[in-house]
Amino acid sequence: MFSTLKPLPTDPILGLMAAFKQDTNPNKIDLGVGVYKDEQGNTTVLRAVKKAEAFRLENETTKTYIGLAGNLDFCQKMEHQLLGEHPALLANRVRTAQAPGGTGALRVAAEFIKRCNTDATVWVTTPTWANHISLFEAAGLTVKEYPYYDYENKNLRFDDMIATLKTVPKGDIVLLHACCHNPSGMDLNAEQWQVVAELAKEVGFTPLIDIAYQGFGSGLDVDAAGLRLLAATVEELIICSSCSKNFGLYRERVGACTVIAKDAAQADVSNSVMLSVVRSIYSMPPAHGADIVATILGSTELTQEWHQELDEMRGRINEYRGLIKTRLAQAGVAQDFSFIERQHGMFSFLGINKAQIERLRDEYAIYMVGSSRVNIAGINHNNIDYFVKAMVEVLK
Ligand code: LMR
Repeated sequence: MFSTLKPLPTDPILGLMAAFKQDTNPNKIDLGVGVYKDEQGNTTVLRAVKKAEAFRLENETTKTYIGLAGNLDFCQKMEHQLLGEHPALLANRVRTAQAPGGTGALRVAAEFIKRCNTDATVWVTTPTWANHISLFEAAGLTVKEYPYYDYENKNLRFDDMIATLKTVPKGDIVLLHACCHNPSGMDLNAEQWQVVAELAKEVGFTPLIDIAYQGFGSGLDVDAAGLRLLAATVEELIICSSCSKNFGLYRERVGACTVIAKDAAQADVSNSVMLSVVRSIYSMPPAHGADIVATILGSTELTQEWHQELDEMRGRINEYRGLIKTRLAQAGVAQDFSFIERQHGMFSFLGINKAQIERLRDEYAIYMVGSSRVNIAGINHNNIDYFVKAMVEVLK
């Protein structure tokens, strides 16, 4: 049976991790996969996480099954982190299931959408995270795209986006990145979120929010402002969140799928369907990572420490957004890279061509995704000179 299989190419993002690891060039720079790196180029365990883990080691009392929705304390705290003191929460319209990472949450959402409407199409931004399309298609959903990033002007194609969203059939799903758009770093502003929210209500599509970088753009609340606005405008909403980046819990696989329904009764029905989906795909989520998040968010001291660490990570990324722009201009690069400073989160497209991307990898051991998406956090004071020099060479 296996002989019928054909080999598939490696994942365009995760494949880079392996290639980078094997590269023996001492100057190599990893601007590929979206993991935060500090000034030393390390992805360390956050201090607040270490403390919560020590607490857990001492205080964990059982390894029995956790239940379909996972850690309920975690779920409740995530709802507050996402929504703040939102009317939807006060009206008991929100239900959450812990999921194995943001990807697990998206898969739960995809199966949930299928149970709501087998013919639903999911509309995603052009471009979007490389895994979005295959993930929804793997769940049997149709995927279509709507215009989002203007590669030429390094901006949003907002008018085109709205024109396409006006044509979306009622009952379809529109995926929106809450903040730190992956891969472009280009986010909607407050007025644009308002326009999208009103359109969702008028046209009748259901927004599905992917929030994988809360706190990496402008701060925990600002980064969730668009989704909170949507939740205040439409009756039904799905949110897929991740704790991989903001808590640095990547390999622990912590995320959540949150459903907001029109009333408490509908929320209960939705929850029962969401939990049935969970049971049929992975039965229940792992405990460790969600316990860590719940412990941090349940302690004023640890929350403060985590906020500080999150501010440090965001601050460093934003500092390097400015530095990359300035240093490239100072080195005499004619191309304008000022857009990097206007964008948010870990990623931006450099906007360079395939041959230049390949030269950076083959001659300089600088790795980025084939679309020219770079992880800004991969740059630090030790490698910025080398990066700028290499850019000058390939842009000549
Ligand atoms: C990324 O976009 O690099 C991250 O979200 C990691 C992944 O799983 O692709």
